[in-house]
Amino acid sequence: MKVLVTGGCGYIGSHTCVELLNNDFEVVVLDNLSNSKITVLDKIKTITSKEVKFYEGDMIDSNILDRVFEENEIDAVIDFAAYKAVGESVQKPIEYYKNNVATVLELINAMKKHNCKKLVFSSSATVYGTPDVVPITEDSKIGGTTNPYGTSKLFVEQILNDLYKSDNEWDIAILRYFNPIGAHESGLIGEQPNGIPANLMPYVAKVASGELECLSVFGNDYPTEDGTGVRDYIHVVDLAIGHIKALEKLASEGRGLFIYNLGTGKGYSVLEIIDAFEKANGLKVNYKIVGRRAGDIAECYSDPTKAKEELGFVATKTLEDMCRDAWNFEKNFR
Ligand code: NAD
Ligand code: UFG
Repeated sequence: MKVLVTGGCGYIGSHTCVELLNNDFEVVVLDNLSNSKITVLDKIKTITSKEVKFYEGDMIDSNILDRVFEENEIDAVIDFAAYKAVGESVQKPIEYYKNNVATVLELINAMKKHNCKKLVFSSSATVYGTPDVVPITEDSKIGGTTNPYGTSKLFVEQILNDLYKSDNEWDIAILRYFNPIGAHESGLIGEQPNGIPANLMPYVAKVASGELECLSVFGNDYPTEDGTGVRDYIHVVDLAIGHIKALEKLASEGRGLFIYNLGTGKGYSVLEIIDAFEKANGLKVNYKIVGRRAGDIAECYSDPTKAKEELGFVATKTLEDMCRDAWNFEKNFR
């Protein structure tokens, strides 16, 4: 099976390319390198001893999309290409809607034109807004997003639902990721955010390395066990494997639009993450408690039952694995 991976040089995309190659899929990557480096392709080759076919280009460009589909018999697409910084999306909403929504319309047009109708889409737990209850199932209400990034994911989910209603020859898997962290165990690929990280784990790793002085813990007055925010952290390699399972589902049973949470089902607080990182790596992480971050919610973790029952997907890596691999990657790239 030949798979087009858009955004395949990025954090989750690169790990998914590795798992695809390890499972004998042929991989074509389209990436404009707006948030990644081309050297990732060599790392993927070192890990797998296999190569992906690479196109540098922007998914908004119908010409490059046409070229990719004309030059390769693509059976399915995994679409990772998007911007993902929540804070930045508030400052640049139009850029976010263009890059996260308009590009998907171009992709769908190109897929239709070339009769490729299997799509796995990267969505996010952010579509649940502020959940009324945890754990969150796929039937929990969606909406109430508080930033253009989250709303862009909501819009695309709606577009894909409408697309499927109009033509049920499409096979679509919408995957709602919880909080991916960690890195490949080789330490060769991982998350390399530009500038100062906005997310917890990359920030923790940079404080541990001494590159940043002190972690600000955003609030200890939430209604959680220790007062800090609780999230469902999932190892990025587990998450990547979830995409293989989704592709297999679309290839075997066919016909349908499916929505799955990809998480572990277990929530950890910010203080638990700091503690686990210190223990896993024998390091100290300086932190101070500060006020809440605007837009944050108290608790968000998944009910992963549906993905387990329908995809046979269960995240197996532990929080210790996530902390060790995140640090291993950070050390390599300091
Ligand atoms: P990332 O920024 O590391 O990867 C995205 C990749 O897409 C990058 O290589 C970038 O260069 C490329 N790209 C962006 N716009 C493009 C365009 N118009 N054309 C071609 N390439 C383009 O992000 P990631 O963490 O790997 O996230 C992948 C997907 O998963 C995104 O859709 C993101 O919204 C979603 N997601 C991520 C998280 C997370 O916490 N990382 C959580 C939920 C959902
Ligand atoms: N946190 C801190 N200090 C920091 C960074 C984060 O205390 O410097 C806390 C946050 O307040 C939150 C937790 O750590 O309680 C996790 O925060 P992240 O920024 O790592 O992750 P979020 O849950 O806020 O959001 C992430 C992605 C979104 C995605 C969402 C899906 O950034 O894109 O997970 O659940 F939609």
